Amino acid sequence: MSSTVIIGTQWGDEGKGRVVDVYAANAAMVVRYQGGDNAGHTVKIGTQSYALHLIPSGIVRQKPSILGNGMVINPKSLLKEIADLEGRGLTVRPHLYISEDAHLIMPYHLALDGASERASGNGKIGTTLKGIGPAYVDKFSRLHGLRLGDLRNAEYFRARLRPIVAEKNALLTQLYQSEVQFDADAIFDEYLGYYAEIGGMICDTAEMVWQAVKRGDEIVFEGANATMLDIDHGTYPYVTCSTPTAGGAAVGVGVGPTKIDRVIGVVKAYTSRVGEGPFPTELKNEIGDHIRELGHEYGTTTGRPRRCGWLDICVLRKAARANGLDYLAVTHLDILDGFAEIPLCVAYEIDGRRVEIFPSALWETERATPIYEMMPGWLTPTNGCRSFTELPPNAQRYLNRVAELTDVPICMITVGNERQQNIVMEHPVSA
Ligand code: IMP
Repeated sequence: MSSTVIIGTQWGDEGKGRVVDVYAANAAMVVRYQGGDNAGHTVKIGTQSYALHLIPSGIVRQKPSILGNGMVINPKSLLKEIADLEGRGLTVRPHLYISEDAHLIMPYHLALDGASERASGNGKIGTTLKGIGPAYVDKFSRLHGLRLGDLRNAEYFRARLRPIVAEKNALLTQLYQSEVQFDADAIFDEYLGYYAEIGGMICDTAEMVWQAVKRGDEIVFEGANATMLDIDHGTYPYVTCSTPTAGGAAVGVGVGPTKIDRVIGVVKAYTSRVGEGPFPTELKNEIGDHIRELGHEYGTTTGRPRRCGWLDICVLRKAARANGLDYLAVTHLDILDGFAEIPLCVAYEIDGRRVEIFPSALWETERATPIYEMMPGWLTPTNGCRSFTELPPNAQRYLNRVAELTDVPICMITVGNERQQNIVMEHPVSA
């Protein structure tokens, strides 16, 4: 048996879709365990680029693709994603399984996400406006959460929905002075329409995964968002509302933590972030702009330009600790091909102290000055390299130093957007 969790180590957009695609090749199933359509995973094959938001990246390999109980699912977005993928020739519906315990994103969640962000002015989080936060808030409030499985019992669903909608309408008008109002019966009809489309996919996915565990099947658990956006371990309050870190896989799928065999952390060879919040190695200059253009750093989900900066080992040390990382998969190495020198942030200086791990307190991260180690660049294209030893010596040095400083071996490297532009190491590089 071998089950692998693949997670992002930074602030998202590390290229998890690419890495999942490689490990999904031998997997019996790919399982998402948290988040919703705030995620954007891209898999590029030839001229086709598949942008996945809710559906696990394993669908591109036509594998059973499970949306686990820890997710929040907007059925309207799901149906659009299914139609998009089917329009590009993929078979989707027969491969898709949705947990009956996953929570529904409702129209009022999107309205509340927008209203709350607008009301927060400069203090806003910079969310994707997909209703993620309000849906998780309702889940944990217990009184307001609605689950996919609830759609099976129309009368129960209607009875739960009416008082919830009345309360949300009051919240929108009284707290946010919004004119948007919802009609419970119209939402009921809309969601019953969605159920007619996806009802056949809703099942006890935890049992499916459990049976696969017992058979000894290979399973890939696909994390969305990333470690530094984790509700507990990220840059709170500038985080998402779920648990992207590896422990979230057990809870968000319904298998025990003893059934997870290894954790791969995906790390971009530099750093990017969308939305607000601390980012000590951010480059608010022409170098940052240059990296953005080279790396096409614009959000898959929202199209927003991403903030860019150098690689931050303090972030990776935190990710290694929070996830128990076994391996790193380093992506976008080729984006650094043209730099004569590459600064690597090995620690921070905070109020005269040297700090080696990303601090928890917001005000400390805001005062953190990166301490850089200057790595020599390689000024040679890497996109044709297919083994570690084919990489220019300075690129090897850069990767070795990352493995050494994080104490995590590297098992994979990507050197371009195409599916085959990968180096998958039989013997992971450990400095
Ligand atoms: P939310 O998840 O829409 O509530 O957004 C909360 C924060 O997480 C915002 O800064 C978003 O930009 C960020 N975020 C959420 N999902 C992703 C992702 O998949 N990639 C990058 N940033 C994300």
